[in-house]
Amino acid sequence: MSKLAQRAAELRRLIDHHNYLYYVENRPEISDKEFDLLLKELEELEAAHPELRTPDSPTQRVGGQPIAGFKTVPHRVPMLSIGKAFSAAELREFDARVRKTLGNQPVRYVVELKIDGVAVSLMYTDGLLTLGATRGNGKVGDDITENLKTVRGVPLRLRTDKPPPLFEARGEVYMSKADFARLNEEVAARGESPYANPRNLTAGSLKQLDSRITAKRRLRLFAYAVGYVEGLAISSQLEALELLRRYGFPVNPEIRAFDNIEEVIAYCDSWAEKRFDLPYETDGLVIKVNDFEQQQRLGATNKEPRWAIAYKFEAEQAITKIREIQVDVGKDGTLTPVALFDPPVQLCGTTVSRATLHNAAQIERKDIRVGDSVIVVKRGEIIPYVVKALHEARKGTEKIFHFPTQCPVCGAPVVRENDAPSPRCTATATCPAQLQSRIESFAKRERMDIEGLGEKLAEQLVASGLVKTVADLYYLKKEQLMGLERMGELSAQNLLDAIEASKNRGLARLLAGLSIYGVGDAMAALLAQEFPSIDALLAASKEQIAAVKGFGPRRAESVYNFLHGPGRKIIQDLRDAGVKMTEDVKPKATSGPLAGKTIVVTGTLQNYSRKQIEDLIAQYGGKAASSVSKKTDYVIAGDDPGSKLDKARQLGIKVLTEDEFEKLIGLR
Ligand code: IVH
Repeated sequence: MSKLAQRAAELRRLIDHHNYLYYVENRPEISDKEFDLLLKELEELEAAHPELRTPDSPTQRVGGQPIAGFKTVPHRVPMLSIGKAFSAAELREFDARVRKTLGNQPVRYVVELKIDGVAVSLMYTDGLLTLGATRGNGKVGDDITENLKTVRGVPLRLRTDKPPPLFEARGEVYMSKADFARLNEEVAARGESPYANPRNLTAGSLKQLDSRITAKRRLRLFAYAVGYVEGLAISSQLEALELLRRYGFPVNPEIRAFDNIEEVIAYCDSWAEKRFDLPYETDGLVIKVNDFEQQQRLGATNKEPRWAIAYKFEAEQAITKIREIQVDVGKDGTLTPVALFDPPVQLCGTTVSRATLHNAAQIERKDIRVGDSVIVVKRGEIIPYVVKALHEARKGTEKIFHFPTQCPVCGAPVVRENDAPSPRCTATATCPAQLQSRIESFAKRERMDIEGLGEKLAEQLVASGLVKTVADLYYLKKEQLMGLERMGELSAQNLLDAIEASKNRGLARLLAGLSIYGVGDAMAALLAQEFPSIDALLAASKEQIAAVKGFGPRRAESVYNFLHGPGRKIIQDLRDAGVKMTEDVKPKATSGPLAGKTIVVTGTLQNYSRKQIEDLIAQYGGKAASSVSKKTDYVIAGDDPGSKLDKARQLGIKVLTEDEFEKLIGLR
């Protein structure tokens, strides 16, 4: 071999070695710069001496000439899709089916992260990558060999001296969250429409007819299965993964094996929040029967194998940027930061352009800045929620958000009490923003249920000066309403009828509608239960109110101060207008959706303190207990649940999320 040929071979070996350390073992030994120098030297060598170029040379990864279109290629073994489970119960059903078919043989499950990317097939002939294809319809896919060669981590040659004659690896090509954020920005900067998520951008990159473009996209691979093989016997999934690793494929490190489904479930659950810390997107986990002989016996339908199932995480997630943080003024004056997204993202079938950041404390804790790339999900598939900022994608131009010192609506000074999560506008009685949201809140279905009175109308009523407190609603005249924009006689009359009908909702809903700091729907119901008329409540001392379940001194103080301060006149006006001020008290505890049920709460809930949820349980007829036993009917599990959850699982007790609990008692 000539000196030059020797050097070329040496460079290829070095580059492959460092590539492997970087993409498979995750422990690079040289810097990116040193790596680039090696690659550059090889490129120059091959350019000057084309005869030195080999098909598995790492220089091939930069991409080649554009092609006219992709060839369709058949899969020797079909690329099946996979059944889905959305709950622990469905995983238990899957396990039951597996066991039944296998006649109760011991089963070992392999659990892998479900990487949210694009499935590919990589065929090696005598160790050399000869065909890379998409899944397509499962039977035939597109030949995207040239594009897949550009994916670092895809071995161009298997790392073995004795390769089998044919070996097909399957896996997921994906893009890291940080690369996605960066690339999507470049896409947007060129005036093209940005991609919704890393998976779409990955798919778009793999469909490029010019592989030089794909090469710039920094795609990565995790191999998770062996497809067609000749000359090699593999007997289990764990063995397959081990072989893939040995052959030089990146295999995800978070793979575990378990001998029973409860451990599988616990492992799946452990990823519910942790997955957001991964540098790439996952949309669930895949559970596979380990033993190939058992897999064979379980077989497949024409769509899916019966030996595997995907456990899907609840919410879809998307990545976007915070263009601006806007401040909304709530019904009690609380300033709520709201993130405006650019671009808006698609989540659970709707376009999401904004999400509340809740309060100053959350922004500080999560260190969210204007300009940050963020992960957005929909809580319970409804409410958009910013999970976290991608600090690793920062460029240094992001700005720390500061609350205004004056109310953005009325200009009154803003205060943040010692331990308050957010500042508040101090103009309680006069701030139009506060008033408007109090009216909206008052008119909501669960409170006074005034049909037709929403955001727009509330805004008009405030701006026109017709309504200064919620009580003023009951004194509106038809002529006044008809003076408002887009308000004809008919709609004015309809509104008056709706307001009239709302007089009968009862004390609990009325109290909930008054926007008393610290008194939501559940607390108002408890208050009305103890003091079933407004007169009884007005006669109560602070101490008596504090003694109501779920209250305590601070909440009691807030109620008392309202009733004997700004609320006094409002209540009088409401009374004069004929609004019902009593509650028909229902007998306690013997009825209700939770009657006779014992419930244990574990973990941190989003919407309730421990005390609040326990009060709610009592209010709906249930009993809150502190430890799980056979007598427990439900366990409500929040974030970071403790051993109680494990115990509940062992005992087969029904576990509820906060949402499910709210549904159970009819709050949703
Ligand atoms: S196994 C018959 N394992 O999920 C089972 N799929 O399968 C074949 N996916 O688009 C798939 N991570 O590309 C398997 N660790 C993993 C996976 C995984 C992601 C994707 C796969 C396919 C979808 C359903």
